[in-house]
Amino acid sequence: MDLSRIRVGGDEGYDVVVGTGLVEDTDTVAGLLGDRGTRVAVIHPPRIAETARELGRRLGAGGRSVELVQVPEGEAAKDVSVAAAVWARLGQAGFTRTDAVVGIGGGATTDLAGFVAATWLRGVPVVHVPTTLLGMVDAAVGGKTGINTSEGKNLVGAFHPPRGVVCDLDLLRGLPAEELASGLAEVVKVGFIADPRVLELIDADPGAAADPRGPVLRELVERAVRVKAAVVSEDLRDTGRREILNYGHTLGHAIERVEGYTWRHGFAVSVGLVFAAELAHAAGRLDEATVQRHRSVLESVGLPTRYPGGRWSDLLAAMGVDKKSRGRVLRFVVLDGVGRPGLLEDPDPAWLAAAYERLSA
Ligand SMILES: NC(=O)c1ccc[n+]([C@@H]2O[C@H](COP(=O)([O-])OP(=O)(O)OC[C@H]3O[C@@H](n4cnc5c(N)ncnc54)[C@H](O)[C@@H]3O)[C@@H](O)[C@H]2O)c1
Repeated sequence: MDLSRIRVGGDEGYDVVVGTGLVEDTDTVAGLLGDRGTRVAVIHPPRIAETARELGRRLGAGGRSVELVQVPEGEAAKDVSVAAAVWARLGQAGFTRTDAVVGIGGGATTDLAGFVAATWLRGVPVVHVPTTLLGMVDAAVGGKTGINTSEGKNLVGAFHPPRGVVCDLDLLRGLPAEELASGLAEVVKVGFIADPRVLELIDADPGAAADPRGPVLRELVERAVRVKAAVVSEDLRDTGRREILNYGHTLGHAIERVEGYTWRHGFAVSVGLVFAAELAHAAGRLDEATVQRHRSVLESVGLPTRYPGGRWSDLLAAMGVDKKSRGRVLRFVVLDGVGRPGLLEDPDPAWLAAAYERLSA
């Protein structure tokens, strides 16, 4: 059985298991549940129903009673009405503190499943089985759970670290190319903030970087998980170091908002990465060659690196909303070089304008 375990430290530490055939051929999920989960609620979107049933069969064969709980596709799952419907299912099935939740699906599904686990009886164990690349390298690792409200994304949630995460590369085989590319934006981000080997692997063979059957994507997932694990082990509650994981997200989130959440998260982050690199360059902190490297690596895996002109005031307003959650000034994670992330607070408006101009050139 070819799998690797990456430890996430901290008070509530857990393993992220990476490999192939982990859901169909092994009891990895059951192993991570350990002695908990006599009853298990397997929360999944419609598109993952067959895999969820297969996992349910395996957990059932191990003597657990399984509730398959289907939630809406994607972002529509991250709603309080959906959480309430799942709480009702758990209540009807008499779920107690010794029972557990498994979230199997993309980041939206694991955010919802994690939130349900964090709130049911003030907390029951959860194991995540992410089925998108973005879920594997980002959403399912780190203990952030949550739902959206009409006022905005991820405004309601809880820190609730999972008991474990199972990254089964086989599950990426059915993932549309755009979703895979969306996840690669977070992988490229990791390459620039912490692990330049990631950039070398993608430069060497961009096609292999997007191939779930090959060793390159597996290594990229392991490297990205290792970086996130190290950061969240140090700063679970996002009070300091964890902010470097937001590289490219200040403008990225603004683009998502301005585009009415029609853009995939990773596509918006990709443009946000180029903007942050241009901003650091305008501020005299990053060289031109590294800025261009952002474009070449992101474009090589099919990600956008430009944004139309004439939208600056909308973007600024959207970043302002983000600003509310970060005090009174605009804050950007920027680089002083590859692997050297830092902060840029209250940037000179001339730098912002110059960066936007180059982004929309
Ligand atoms: N908790 C965190 O720390 C964190 C971090 C980053 C992002 N997120 C959240 O993650 C979400 C984005 O996650 P995502 O990009 O995985 O999107 P998603 O969960 O919306 O999944 C995208 C679509 O792909 C489908 N899908 C999932 N796996 C599939 C597969 N194997 N084959 C075919 N289709 C599949 C889904 O059902 C969905 O329709 C956002 O809600 C974002 O806020 C959370």
